[in-house]
Parts: sequence; C-alpha cells; structure tokens
Amino acid sequence: MVCGIIGITTEEGFTQEPLGKLIKDALKRLEYRGYDSVGLAVITEEGLLKIRKSKGMIDAVSQRLGFDSISGFNGIGHTRWATHGKPSDENAHPHTDCLGRVAVVHNGIIENYKKLKEFLIGEGHRFASDTDTEVIPHLVESFKKRGLSTYEAFKKTIELLEGAYALAMIDLEDPGKIFFAKKMSPLIIGLGNKGNFVASDVVAFLNHTRRVIVLVDGEAGYITPREVVVERMVREGGSVRWLPVDVERRVRVVEWSPEMALKEGYDFFMLKEIHEQPYALASTLSAANESVSDVARVLAKSERVLLLGAGTSYHATLITALLFRKYANLWAEALISSESRWWLNALSQGDVVIGVSQSGETIDTLRGIREAKERGALTIAVTNVVESAIAREADMAIYIRAGPEIGVAATKTFTSQVALLSYLAIKTGELRSVLKPSVAANIYNALRETPEIVARTLKESERLASLLADKMSFKNNAYYLGRGLGLPVAMEGALKMKEIAYVHAEAYPAGESKHGPIALVEEGFPVVFVILSKEEEELIKSNIEEMKARGAYAILVSPNNAEEALSLADFSFVMPALHEVASATSYVVPLQLLAYYTAVKKGLDPDKPRNLAKTVTVF
Ligand code: M6R
Repeated sequence: MVCGIIGITTEEGFTQEPLGKLIKDALKRLEYRGYDSVGLAVITEEGLLKIRKSKGMIDAVSQRLGFDSISGFNGIGHTRWATHGKPSDENAHPHTDCLGRVAVVHNGIIENYKKLKEFLIGEGHRFASDTDTEVIPHLVESFKKRGLSTYEAFKKTIELLEGAYALAMIDLEDPGKIFFAKKMSPLIIGLGNKGNFVASDVVAFLNHTRRVIVLVDGEAGYITPREVVVERMVREGGSVRWLPVDVERRVRVVEWSPEMALKEGYDFFMLKEIHEQPYALASTLSAANESVSDVARVLAKSERVLLLGAGTSYHATLITALLFRKYANLWAEALISSESRWWLNALSQGDVVIGVSQSGETIDTLRGIREAKERGALTIAVTNVVESAIAREADMAIYIRAGPEIGVAATKTFTSQVALLSYLAIKTGELRSVLKPSVAANIYNALRETPEIVARTLKESERLASLLADKMSFKNNAYYLGRGLGLPVAMEGALKMKEIAYVHAEAYPAGESKHGPIALVEEGFPVVFVILSKEEEELIKSNIEEMKARGAYAILVSPNNAEEALSLADFSFVMPALHEVASATSYVVPLQLLAYYTAVKKGLDPDKPRNLAKTVTVF
C-alpha cells in the first residue's frame, strides 16, 4: 500500500527501449496505489547516476523531465504518497547521499529517523528533504566511508532502522545491483530473461515476467540481471546475524490477470483494504505519539471541542467525543458536518473544532471548518491525505497513515481514524492530569496490540462472516444495537451493510430499542449486538432477551468473557477481551466482513455501490 516501488536491472538484449521508459511504464501500473510525486534514478553506460523527480502526475512529470529518453542498465523508480514532508520536488524520491552516488526509494515509515538524522547531521551530512527516507542513503554513505562494501553498508543501515519499510537502492560504485529490504511493506522480486525486477506489486512487471519470489519481513539482499541473493536478519540479544535464504524453492508463477494483480489477488478492493487494516493501524500507531503531540497540547488547554465528520468519519468522531469526555474530562460533542451550521453560531474564541475526513475533501466538513475558523475557533484536520483541502484550510493537521483507499466503503481509514483519535484523547487526558501516566501507558499498549488483534480477527472471522452472509443476503432489514462506545461501532456496521449490501440496517442505542424500534421485530429479524467490554454486557443482556422474546435472530460481536450474553446468541463473533479503547478500534472488523460477504452473495459489486461516490464534494 501507499508508495509504489520498481527496480529493474538488465543486461544487453533485455529490450530495445530506454530504461527510463520501462520504469515509467511500471510506475503507471502502480498508479492505482495513489501518489502525489514521482521520480526515478538510472545508472547509465557512461557511469552516471541520473535522477529525475518532481511533484505531480506521472504523464506530466515524465514528459517534462524526459523519462522516456533516459537510457541505462540499472534503475529504480517511485510513486510517493506523502507521509513525512509535504508533496514537493525535494521530498519526491529517489533520495541520495551527499555525494549523489547512492539513490534510495522507500515505502513505509522510519520511526527513528529523527534520532538517525541528528546523528548524521552531527557527522556533517547535508539533507535536502524533510523525509524520513533520506537518512538511508546517508547512513549507507557513512558506513561505506568506514570501509564497508555497499552491500555490507546497506545491511548495517537496515539493522538501525525501526518502523516499516520496503526499500530499493542503487549505488554508482556497485552499479550492477539493486539492493532491497522488506519489513511490513510489500516487496516482490520478478525473475525475467536478461533482467530482474523488484517491486511493491507484481502488476509493475507482469508484462515482462510471471515468475516471482515474494519477500517476507526481515529479508534483504540484492538482484543483478542473473542473480538473486537474499538473507534474513536475525536479532539475538544485542547482536544481529544475517542468515542466507534459499529462495529457489520459493519461486512461483503468478496466474493473475493484470486486473486481479491490481487487487493483489483479492476479488475486490474493499476486501483487500479490509485485509490491509493491520498494516494501516501499525503505520498510523507507529507515528501516533509524534503526530498528536502538538494538537494534544492545544486540546489540554481548551474547554470545548466540537468534532465534525460525515458518514464513517462521523462515527469516528462519536467514539472520539466519548473518549474526550470520559478520559480527558473535556466537553466534547460530535456533529454530522452537514448539520454543523446550526451549532456554529454558539462557537466562541478558544473553542476547538476538529474536522475528520479520510479524503480531506468532503465539502460539508470543509465548510464546517471554514465557518468555525471565521468565528474564531481553532480548527484541526484529521485526514488520510496530506495537503488535502481540509488539511490546508485548518490551522493544524494530523494524519492517519492508512494508504489510499479505493473501495467506496471506508474500512481501513475508519479503524485508523479511531486508533489515532483515541491516542489523541488519551494523550489529552494525560496532559490534563486526568489520567496517570501509567494508566495512559496501558491504553497506548492496548492500542498498539490492535494490528495483531485485527490480523487474528481477519483469520478467525472471515469464514464465519461468509457463513452468516448466506442468511443476511435473504434479509431486507436488520437492527444494529450497542451502548456507549459500542453504539458508534454498531452504527458503522449498519452503514456498511446499507451502503454495499443494500440491506436496510438501522443502528440504535440498545436501551432505546424498546422505545419504538422493537415494534418491527418478528421471527427471524436479525439484530446485531455490539458489546465491547464485560461492563457493557451487564447493560445489554436484557436488551438481547427482549429482542429474542420477539423472535429476533441475535448476532453478537462480543468479548469472550461476556459468557452470559454469548449464551443468548444465535450467532456470534467472539473477540478477545481488550481495553474498551482497543475494542472500539477493532470490533468493527467482523461487521465489515459481514457486509462485504452479504454484498458478494447478492451478486453486488462492493467497490462501486449504486448512488455513492468515494468523495462527496457537493452539498
Ligand atoms: O472522505 P470522508 O471521510 O470525509 O467521507 C465521508 C463520507 O462520505 C464517507 O465516510 C462515506 O460515508 C463512505 N461511503 C462510508 O463508507
């Protein structure tokens, strides 16, 4: 996800076309990942390292910088989706060392880059960008100066990196190789005839070869036109060992069509994005402490917070408002952004308005932010897209790092929003001395476990969701009930079911259901109950019984320690018992899967639901 990487190393007779053009064509096939800048580095027959890069779209940049006419035998290319540093020519990849000999492209986040950068600046290195990536070529340069070969210097560099990365690097002083490393970002080797490839996605080189080796986390190595060398990094105590990996046995032939390859083998982008949630959460949370710190300081001193969002983003604001109130003793209210005009008059100087929007372009939320600003409130954007309209117009911006979301139904951006905003609420509570640092630390730790929990949930719930979808696909109506933090999760589950499976799904506070909605319940009526914690079980048990007494088919998403509630269920997704903040982030996953499989069983296209657009820029 996120940035796209391609590396191509060739020998004579590979093709007649200039390498710059081959790299550009591969980048075009990676375009679907979303990007704001593009660049390449090529080693020429004359022994030069040519670098061309710029903010902008591939066709325009390539035409302006003449990608198609750059010849050479070894090169790397990149589409950048900004995380550290705004989209700009300087921040576009590749990045180089001080001497302009080593060039690197990277997908992911180097969490400890600040520390590494300080050290390198101390050594006299000059930096040309705001990116985390740039520390890599400078570290390689630094190790080479101490007498190491390029490969040894590359491995030493990898040993120092914390965070997520897929990397490709070339070096004028070892010109026949492309060095690579992978941790928590995809990277695949393609085995061609008179040339080899390394890329974020097979689709980048599928027109040249279908023979691939999929790299796993902790692996690094290099390719030449005829050779693939892979080693695995093993940390033991304080030391690191590199063990050779026999990749011969891992060569496989990809049968995917180019269309399937774009979806990395998943039938729909929505399912792919549901499965990307562990990565999206890990990326978002790995940067959370740093990203929220300034905003948390502002919130710690404020008295009122208004959160604006639409659709799924509104559900994230509901969770956040509850957390601000409960964990930071801060008056906070969530509002549907298109309704915000009826509140804005009551705003005054000192109020804070947070606009939450994955796209950063939703017009209702943008307008809310504009109007709040005009009334003197401090405005903050929370979005997935750097330099989007809401991010630009708000006074401050913080980013989730979910990668581009293509499916119309928001999935990975929701869980990332909830994770980041939860982190923000807890940090605010800590700064306001409402939470002891040890209590806050426990909650951060629980949040940091969510990538792993979601990965496990995906494995355990997928078959169950598909099974239940057989039943749901014949239903026209459903209720989704929850209490407290569970209510917005239920609302999000219902929205997913409505928008992609066209089942009329309504969410209510469970306690409110007997004040009207229960009138519709009859034999077999599906009611989904979301229970996030043992404490909530006590409150919701009687609601399950009331519904069942009227013939409801009770579906539970519940922690495994809510035994009594679970014993009442007709169907259940049993989740691990977590801190409620972590449950609020992760318990939606089975409901996303249920909506997805219900849509598929009904023969619908979950990526393109009728009447909906990915970004709504009209009032
Ligand atoms: O880009 P935004 O987060 O501002 O979008 C808000 C809504 O339009 C969006 O969440 C919409 O409801 C999705 N289709 C939900 O899946």
